[in-house]
Amino acid sequence: MANVIVIGAQWGDEGKGKITDLLSGSADLVVRYQGGVNAGHTVVVSDQTFKLHLIPSGILYPKTECIIGNGTVIDPKELITELDKLDELNISTDNLFISETAHVTMPYHRLIDQATEERRGTKKIGTTKRGIGPTYADKSERTGIRIIDLMDADAFAEQLRWTIDYKNVVLEKLYDLEPLDADEVLEEYLVYADRLRSHTTDSSLQIYNAAQQKKNILFEGAQGTLLDLDHGTYPYVTSSNPVAGGACIGSGVGPTTIDRVIGVAKAYTTRVGEGPFPTELDDEVGQTICEVGAEFGTTTGRRRRCGWFDGVISRYAVRINGLDCLAITKLDVLDGLDEIKVCVAYELDGTRCEDLPSGARQFSRCKPIYETLPGWKQSTEDCRTLGDLPKAALDYLEFLAKLTEAPIAIVSLGASRDQTIIVEDPIHGPKRALLKENTSAFKVMA
Ligand code: GDP
Ligand code: IMO
Ligand code: MG
Repeated sequence: MANVIVIGAQWGDEGKGKITDLLSGSADLVVRYQGGVNAGHTVVVSDQTFKLHLIPSGILYPKTECIIGNGTVIDPKELITELDKLDELNISTDNLFISETAHVTMPYHRLIDQATEERRGTKKIGTTKRGIGPTYADKSERTGIRIIDLMDADAFAEQLRWTIDYKNVVLEKLYDLEPLDADEVLEEYLVYADRLRSHTTDSSLQIYNAAQQKKNILFEGAQGTLLDLDHGTYPYVTSSNPVAGGACIGSGVGPTTIDRVIGVAKAYTTRVGEGPFPTELDDEVGQTICEVGAEFGTTTGRRRRCGWFDGVISRYAVRINGLDCLAITKLDVLDGLDEIKVCVAYELDGTRCEDLPSGARQFSRCKPIYETLPGWKQSTEDCRTLGDLPKAALDYLEFLAKLTEAPIAIVSLGASRDQTIIVEDPIHGPKRALLKENTSAFKVMA
């Protein structure tokens, strides 16, 4: 048995939903530990596509318990829409539990997110405008409303009136917006409370009890390492901690509960929203990757910026998350290319730089130093073992493993569950130290 964290090793949308769904077959519990409806996780099973925003990607397995942990921010309206969609598809949500201490996204959070982005003008972050930053800001400011507060009608009414009085000053005076009517918001949210009540729980205790019973727990990250509030490319980040360390805080377990950490990375790089992106391609190749990879946001529909695989940020993700291994997704998207570039280091103000600089200003001056590898010019989407892959594709993967110093445990070649090569079972297989010495095609060279 193992308790495993799945994190995004780039700027989000790496395919965490697909990998989490794949591994959920061996999990008893799947826990989302941060983020909110800014996330969009796609799971494709047979001819059905599920787009999940808050509900963990383990929900398709009827016996797997799914938990939305205390570190998330919950927009009840969006969550109920998601529940309704699953109901329509006859997917049971009886096993979905919501932490009582998760914070609630309110209408003023969305309004303030949108208004702040407009006010920032050219300095905008390119947020999803789902109210994520303002909800986490209220949590830190200790004016947030939690799920447990929402469930107590009287206490909620009192807290809401006080908060809306204050938020209306911000909306009217700072942003020149219409004030909110506290009674209307109250009425709307009490309906949400009734709908969600049966799902609420002391999730930290539920996870602890599962761990005591030696159940398999999967922690599903949202966003990605470079969007982390502390460790990402600040200020072009989200307002939570997607990195592996965030899983303990966002679900209420100690670090000793965690057995291993899997990083999900695309075979190239994408980013949605603003912020520096050294390997971004503004040419035909970037356009091809975007089209073949269908790189449009799951949540906002925005076109994702596309570029080559960035070894510097990926090595950084290995370090910050203490990754045991990588799952490389969307290898098939590169199938048609003559040659493929990989960024092995940056040039920063005339000096070679192997590590991510701390500041956005320095990062925006980083120029990628590339190595060029041959493409394979044949389809990989039906490959099911490493032996099925063209030699150039294998060489490419081996190059990535050496560059990042992380063994590759999973290779994904399409959106469906079955379009996957399991190189090493990342849940039941050996841990990183052993993988380093084994005979896998992707062993890390000393
Ligand atoms: P997440 O946010 O990390 O869960 O990723 P998203 O679901 O937002 O974006 C990943 C997209 O790529 C989704 O549309 C997936 O269905 C799709 N996808 C995942 N793995 C693969 C793969 O190996 N190949 C291809 N072609 N698509 C994939
Ligand atoms: P998943 O879980 C990709 C980006 C936004 C913006 C920045 C801040 O699907 O990988 P926010 O609304 O969080 O305040 O926006 O973070 N962003 C994501 N990019 N995938 C995501 O989630 C993202 N969630 C937020 O585009 O640049
Ligand atoms: Mg996504």
